[in-house]
Amino acid sequence: MNTSTSVSKFSRNSARYRGFGEVKEWHSTRFGLEGKSDFAHFRICVFQDGIIRVQASLFENFESNPYSVIAFPENVHFELIEKESQLILTTSLLRMILHLKTFNLSFFDLEGKLLNADDSLGVSWIGSEVTAYKQVQKEEKFIGLGEKTGNLNRFGNAFTNWNTDYFAYGVGDDPLYMSIPFYMGVHEKGAYGIFFDNTHKTVFNFGASTNRFVYFSAEDGDLDYYFIHQPTVTEIISSYTWLTGRMQMPPKWALGFQQCRYSYYPDSEVYTVAQTFRDKKMPADVIYLDIHHMEGYKVFTFDGEKFSDPKAMISRLKEKGFKVVVIMDPGIKSQKGYLPYTEGLKEDLFVKYPDGKTYEAQVWPGWCAFPDFTKEETRSWWAEKMAFYTDAGVDGFWTDMNEPASWGQFTPNLIEFEYEGEKASHRKARNIYGMQMARSAKEGSAFQNPDKRPFVLTRSGFAGIQRFAAAWTGDNVASEEHMLAGIRLVNSLGLSGVSFAGYDVGGFAGEASKSLFARWMSIAAFAPFYRAHSMINSKDAEPWAFGEEVEEISRNYMKLRYRLLTTLYSKFYSSSQSGLPVAESLAVQFTQDQTIYQSAFQNQYLFCDSFLVAPVESTKGITKVYLPEGGWYYLYSDQKHSGIQTIYQDCPLNYLPIYVKGGQIFTMQSDVAFTEGTHDGILRIHVYKGKTGSEYLHYEDAGEGLEYLSDVFFKRKIKYDSKSETLTFDSVEGKYPSDFKTLKIYFHGFSNDTVSLADKNFKLQREDFAFLGKLTEFDPLPEHNHPYFEIKNLPYFELDHLTEPFEILGLK
Ligand code: NOJ
Repeated sequence: MNTSTSVSKFSRNSARYRGFGEVKEWHSTRFGLEGKSDFAHFRICVFQDGIIRVQASLFENFESNPYSVIAFPENVHFELIEKESQLILTTSLLRMILHLKTFNLSFFDLEGKLLNADDSLGVSWIGSEVTAYKQVQKEEKFIGLGEKTGNLNRFGNAFTNWNTDYFAYGVGDDPLYMSIPFYMGVHEKGAYGIFFDNTHKTVFNFGASTNRFVYFSAEDGDLDYYFIHQPTVTEIISSYTWLTGRMQMPPKWALGFQQCRYSYYPDSEVYTVAQTFRDKKMPADVIYLDIHHMEGYKVFTFDGEKFSDPKAMISRLKEKGFKVVVIMDPGIKSQKGYLPYTEGLKEDLFVKYPDGKTYEAQVWPGWCAFPDFTKEETRSWWAEKMAFYTDAGVDGFWTDMNEPASWGQFTPNLIEFEYEGEKASHRKARNIYGMQMARSAKEGSAFQNPDKRPFVLTRSGFAGIQRFAAAWTGDNVASEEHMLAGIRLVNSLGLSGVSFAGYDVGGFAGEASKSLFARWMSIAAFAPFYRAHSMINSKDAEPWAFGEEVEEISRNYMKLRYRLLTTLYSKFYSSSQSGLPVAESLAVQFTQDQTIYQSAFQNQYLFCDSFLVAPVESTKGITKVYLPEGGWYYLYSDQKHSGIQTIYQDCPLNYLPIYVKGGQIFTMQSDVAFTEGTHDGILRIHVYKGKTGSEYLHYEDAGEGLEYLSDVFFKRKIKYDSKSETLTFDSVEGKYPSDFKTLKIYFHGFSNDTVSLADKNFKLQREDFAFLGKLTEFDPLPEHNHPYFEIKNLPYFELDHLTEPFEILGLK
């Protein structure tokens, strides 16, 4: 079908399909090319060897899309040739062919393998709705798209991006709070990513109700997408986060356990909860103040009766090693005399109707005005207002209801936003609003406390949100299926650039059974963000509220998380550098393994590179686990399994199925009561024998502050080379003195009972090192009542902390 001629009969305004049509003019530009058909314009821009931006518009001036992409095109060498009505653009990683007869694109790798191609219906419009129709490759799978329910492989389903406050959503419901229009296609010929940079309501249809194509469309605005190709999914995510930014190193305390409740009050209750963690020897770092901390739910106020002296309360909590995070909702009560309201009106900071009247809707405080966070002045004003909290000693901020939510849940589309000077209606601004509120909160935190690292937790967001905040998956439900669905949501956020994410442990709505709570606490110890939360008028839901057994299981896994903090912190550092997930779907490293996409195994993920976590319902005593390629050690016994097989695993409530990948290295510390609590000064380094080795980056810094951005950190690569049977400690980089004085190196799965130290750079002889035959120390759950295992014959070396490079040889 010749789409260009068949559609040209229709008028421009016809609400029927209208293909881009034949390219009538084009010319090359510094970064690519641009041109037009009879009525539409296109621009192709090479950002990097593996990233090409494709824009198509009904207008000559393309939209600027000022929020998500922070990278600029690099000066990449590419070749552009015209041949038989095709333009062929080649970089060192990919080849794009543009068919001029009807604007149509296909992308190949340099071996000529087809990665992705437009359907012949190509780029087109229906009224203002713009769509790119794409062919589906053989056995193609689609992963990512951020906070979306459903399967890991999104094929066969369609999704809408329209940020929505969705209390107690179902595990298949859509849309939720956050929109990230980025997905990856993987098939036997390769993998690619597509980021559709358009903040309007968008749809991604991966083959629902059609067997012809997949497509993505936006209600309005330009087609503006980035096609990314790299040899691996890992590199594609890195490229995507090069474009949209990466998380900054959070304060270390934010990696600890966080306790929330809608709501803890008065102050005496907050103390009691905090003190109970200490009394019960459950490590924890953060306590939250939900909406009842305010007077009449008015942001930037404290309820004087419930919290008579917030500053004193927070400083007392700090003495116990607790940080306080407060909620901030965007709605500002429309009330004369309430300063934020009068200031906002006076300074013209609120969202308005087109006739200039302030837009109001109802939320917790009643009728509210809404700060226009797409306006720089509003963000700075809000940032200044945050002094109210920081002066009281608040350390972290929780931006909630920022879809924005309002009673009625149906914001009229005509209201107007500044959109960085461009002006836009709600249709274009809604999806970006939450991210701009989170941005303002982060900037506010940094502005108020320039020496501290901001911690912001957000419910709503858009592509690039990882630069400003951690994310949680909103109002989930206390059910087994929700527990598993949350894991997929977090893994999908990880595929989409948001490494720091979690879910309400225990379920926000409803009440968890004892077993469900215990299992949830153990799984979430292996989530990047670890927070328990529950709703108003529900039973107590702290980790001790479900009886002794649950308390004990919770404590064991909380402690395990804190022992693993050295690994977690190091992984957060690498993730802040690479953009790669902390909780990583198996699709990242085992992309071509079809089994990992099966519904029985799609929840499994790798945590901090080393741990394969196989989440399972609390009601099951035995489960099937799929172990992909490699060797796998059951965490609790070192029992070894080979990969590419399904095993049956006992999973009593006190043992969450976790396996360490052969060849990996991770580190641990002794128990601490909170992230900055005192440990014994010994860094335990665990090395697991494997066919392939690995490189572990150990990272430390002050845990707070920004000096790490210069060189006040302690960084060292530890490498295990399975071929040369060597463990190498590179020299230390950075000026931060390590928190550890001694290293203990534990060898798992090795058959030798002696190893030697290379004498190259260092004078110590083997005799200088203790060598112990038996070890019970690496028992993650030592205080457990149930019979537990001991790891026997696990050799380890102990040595004073060295900063010079050294090698341990002869690992067998
Ligand atoms: C909705 C949030 O999702 C929830 O976590 C919070 O507790 C309530 N708002 C009350 O602030």
